[in-house]
Amino acid sequence: MRINKYLALAGIGSRRKVEEYILNGDIQVNDKVLKELSYDVKNKDIVKYKGKIVEVAKNYEYYMLNKPKGYITSAIDNFDRKTVMNLVSDIETRVFPIGRLDYNTEGLLLFTNDGDLANRIMKPNFSIPKTYICVVEGEVKESELAVIRAGVVINGKRLNKCKAKLVDYKDNKSKLEITIDQGINRQVRRMMEFIGKNVVSLKRTKIGDLRLGGLSRGKYRKLRDFEIQYLYNLCNFN
Ligand code: URA
Repeated sequence: MRINKYLALAGIGSRRKVEEYILNGDIQVNDKVLKELSYDVKNKDIVKYKGKIVEVAKNYEYYMLNKPKGYITSAIDNFDRKTVMNLVSDIETRVFPIGRLDYNTEGLLLFTNDGDLANRIMKPNFSIPKTYICVVEGEVKESELAVIRAGVVINGKRLNKCKAKLVDYKDNKSKLEITIDQGINRQVRRMMEFIGKNVVSLKRTKIGDLRLGGLSRGKYRKLRDFEIQYLYNLCNFN
């Protein structure tokens, strides 16, 4: 298998991105820095990225987790905070999260060992709509929802149009359902900051048509075959 495909399948980055890593000298094969972009990986080769062994999974697995708040979405944290990996530690296969949720955001997070699918879903120009339930302090007026829907400006750039509706208002709190198709860092929180609202809670409930449903907080489950097929179709695998 060509080295760029091998590294992409292992989840290191897109095929184009991993070529940059090769050119940077970050990839070693059998402890020698690899220089050839067209290298074919043999069965016995030991491939490393920045000194760590890189392997391609033989059987792919796909899970969804209901991430609680108070966990970061990365393997290691410099501040010793809990990571989502603690919640999937009894899955025998080494799976990794697809995309991320903030420390204080809860809800639907996908895990897999299928690097190729993960890379396709995470591509910046690939846009699966993601739906969030966001509770904010105070009342959100229709005019403020219209501002959100039109795409607010963050760091001088206008966000894409999105869907936003008021689901409930009680105890001086508004519950909004927001669907966005971009993955800007802290996007929903920044959209709320833009209209001057304090976020009380933020939960992702859907990725495309995949729903968190009744999965308990902190629990995970395997994706069903039709859900995996759905992700494949979205990424145009067939
Ligand atoms: N938007 C946010 O503000 N945070 C998330 O974790 C996801 C989307």
